[in-house]
Amino acid sequence: MEPAKFIWMDGALVPWHEARVHVLTHGLHYGTGVLEGTRAYPTPDGPAVFRLDDHVARLLRSARIIGMPIPYSHGELRAASLELVAANGHRSCYLRHIAYYGYGAMGIDVRSSPVGVSIASWEWGAYLGEGTTDDGIRLMVSSWRRNDPNVVPPAAKATGPYLNSVLARAEAAAAGYDEAVLLSPTGQISECSGENIFLVRDGELATPPASAGALEGITQDTVRRLATDLGLPVHTRALVRSDLYTADEIFICGTAAEVIPVRSVDNREIGEPGPVTRKLQAAFAAAVRGSDPRYRAWLTLASQ
Ligand SMILES: Cc1ncc(COP(=O)(O)O)c(C=O)c1O
Repeated sequence: MEPAKFIWMDGALVPWHEARVHVLTHGLHYGTGVLEGTRAYPTPDGPAVFRLDDHVARLLRSARIIGMPIPYSHGELRAASLELVAANGHRSCYLRHIAYYGYGAMGIDVRSSPVGVSIASWEWGAYLGEGTTDDGIRLMVSSWRRNDPNVVPPAAKATGPYLNSVLARAEAAAAGYDEAVLLSPTGQISECSGENIFLVRDGELATPPASAGALEGITQDTVRRLATDLGLPVHTRALVRSDLYTADEIFICGTAAEVIPVRSVDNREIGEPGPVTRKLQAAFAAAVRGSDPRYRAWLTLASQ
């Protein structure tokens, strides 16, 4: 990771290497936090954050689900994000928002723990590795099931539950795959360790619903809108493992990963990235870089 100049921490910009927490931070022990991953892209008018308001809104929704009071408003978090991107002088970057129970009390009862909020930004390239956007990835169905909504709610993008993703991703890496797709406790396709998934069959797209344990992805929502505008039918519906094996095309998507083709699932070849995936990758690249005026409302310039 390439350090940037500043991290926004509890209301102030602090030098990157001074943004530290105590080892007895509650969130470190119990995974009590919520997070967001957002990207800023170079546009003809300067660096712009993509769907910033949607990311801030999801952070606040995640906090609401886990019952965590956030000591900043939507507007304050929005302004802090833009201030950070400008202060760090990025042309493009990834932003990581985190709110967590901090240092001051220990034990499962969080009521006496203060809530800390930080925003970091840094320049981050291809999340799943160089070349994956063009060449695609090899996917496996994980032996780990997605978190059950009645155990820990996947609708909250919360820190502790990411252990589920870490296990799945580690299993996939050890078995020689690039990424894992997880099934829900009842066997529906859910999502990947850090991305939503789309299947294409006979020219129609399908993606699993939140009820299958998938995060309501902002990139997933972006792809749905782009596909609709391209005249491609999109369904958000229950899908099962065999749907992966009969798809004409599969791609996964997320803020960090962007739109990545899948070449094979469980060693069943899908092949070269297909025409629907390619079209959506191009539409996505145009939308995030401000070169398609239809999607300008999704961009917030860092310096305004
Ligand atoms: C588990 C999981 N699913 C899906 C996504 C994709 O969500 P988004 O497109 O909002 O980044 C992410 C990334 O944040 C994720 O971690």
